[in-house]
Amino acid sequence: MSRLTLTKLRSAKQRGEKVAMLTVYDATFAGLLEAANVDVLLVGDSLGMVIQGQESTLPVTMDDMVYHCRNVLRGSRHAFILVDMPFMSYAVPAQAIDNAARLMREGGAQMVKLEGGQMLSETILQLTMRGIPVCAHLGLLPQSVHRVGGYRVQGREERVADQIYEDAVVLQQAGADMLILECIPAHLGRKITKALEIPVISCGAGPYCDGQVLVLYDMLGISLSRLPRFSHNFLEKTDSILNAVQSYVSAVKRGEFPTLEQSY
Ligand code: KIV
Repeated sequence: MSRLTLTKLRSAKQRGEKVAMLTVYDATFAGLLEAANVDVLLVGDSLGMVIQGQESTLPVTMDDMVYHCRNVLRGSRHAFILVDMPFMSYAVPAQAIDNAARLMREGGAQMVKLEGGQMLSETILQLTMRGIPVCAHLGLLPQSVHRVGGYRVQGREERVADQIYEDAVVLQQAGADMLILECIPAHLGRKITKALEIPVISCGAGPYCDGQVLVLYDMLGISLSRLPRFSHNFLEKTDSILNAVQSYVSAVKRGEFPTLEQSY
């Protein structure tokens, strides 16, 4: 069987089927997530914090992303592979093209993810014109943590919410094929999901999006820090990682996760 395709992810949105996505950084977990029917494996630059013990995602390099992506590729056969472009690897379009090509050619990525609003329109246009699928990322942007002043919910004020909405529409027009919304109010997640044709995935953006993504180590409770409100330890009620991931997938597919209490 071949890998899940973007076409299938698009038709899942049309059919109202939710997409289950998790971050993953190595071959063993990639195989396990796939066995639990996770649709999309996100090789997130959260690996800087989760795997490398950095204070933010900023020190993560292209070499790190290629290395982890290749491992995830080897461990999986069917899931769709989405990969983060690390901090400053897409500062100008020409650099973004070279680095995205590397993630696809050497890492095996099927789609690359970039953090930011309308200023990325030209970059997204240039990438997608060259056949590189792009996932945009709006709301809380961890690569901009020093500018924002911390990891906090975005879009509570009307002005900021309107900006996030407008960015989403413009980035879809520029060619973005998917969108991740991080840490925004659920009503804004719903408004954007309804307005866009592309799949919109929530990471703390409420239950109304087309799918959900969590950091794997958070949803397995392998973390000493307090879980964000939108996450949940699925390993709490079972002693098997496979069962925990399967519970996550079925809760997402049935629209039971997240609840409004787990949203902003
Ligand atoms: O790097 C990551 O894990 C991410 C998710 C938080 C969406 O981008």
